[in-house]
Amino acid sequence: MLENLRKFIRRREMPTGFVDLNRFVVDLVGIVEADAQAEGIALRAQLADDLPVVSGNALQLQLVLLNVAQNAIESMRHAAHKELGITIATAAPEPGRVSVAVTDHGHGVSRQLGENIFHPFVTTKRDALGVGLAMSRTIIQSYGGSLTYHDNPAGGTVFVIELPAAEGAEKDPAQSDGDGEQRQPSRLPR
Ligand SMILES: Nc1ncnc2c1ncn2[C@@H]1O[C@H](COP(=O)(O)OP(=O)(O)OP(=O)(O)O)[C@@H](O)[C@H]1O
Ligand SMILES: [Mg+2]
Repeated sequence: MLENLRKFIRRREMPTGFVDLNRFVVDLVGIVEADAQAEGIALRAQLADDLPVVSGNALQLQLVLLNVAQNAIESMRHAAHKELGITIATAAPEPGRVSVAVTDHGHGVSRQLGENIFHPFVTTKRDALGVGLAMSRTIIQSYGGSLTYHDNPAGGTVFVIELPAAEGAEKDPAQSDGDGEQRQPSRLPR
């Protein structure tokens, strides 16, 4: 399945554009807020100022953000301190790089499971396929980025998506088409 996804991405038929991850995080919060609220889980966004845009396919990047956010909510379903909630934070950790960190206070990833969570069909959930993170990592790596996790010292897990900032992109709202994306002719990396 992953091999096919890689081939699919390599075909480069996915339209790419400049993506403002701050705007995508705001949209994401709007989409998963109701789910979190229904579970009594607080959801916060922390948006970095002057975040560089990244280059990519909007749908793919939305899919990645959605899966990581949904995983975070699912990890806190039975948490003792739901009020500690989930924070989705954007940052520019170094010049030319952009990150989105999703911090939860859920059950955490066991040592035993470790990096296997990025393998397809690895799941601890009853009715899940276990493909979310495998797909997400494949997509993020196809853009020269990384998807990693580490333990949250306060309990729970932090998933970090890191992507290269788009080259030659001046973040100019005047050029935006209104949905956080600007069209550009460039295509996905090989
Ligand atoms: N935030 C998290 N906290 C704790 N465990 C997590 C977290 N995110 C992922 N995991 C673990 O990694 C496993 C794999 O995650 P992945 O998103 O690939 O699949 P899934 O959520 O189980 O199913 P699917 O995404 O296909 O619906 C999960 O079943 C869970 O055990
Ligand atoms: Mg998932």
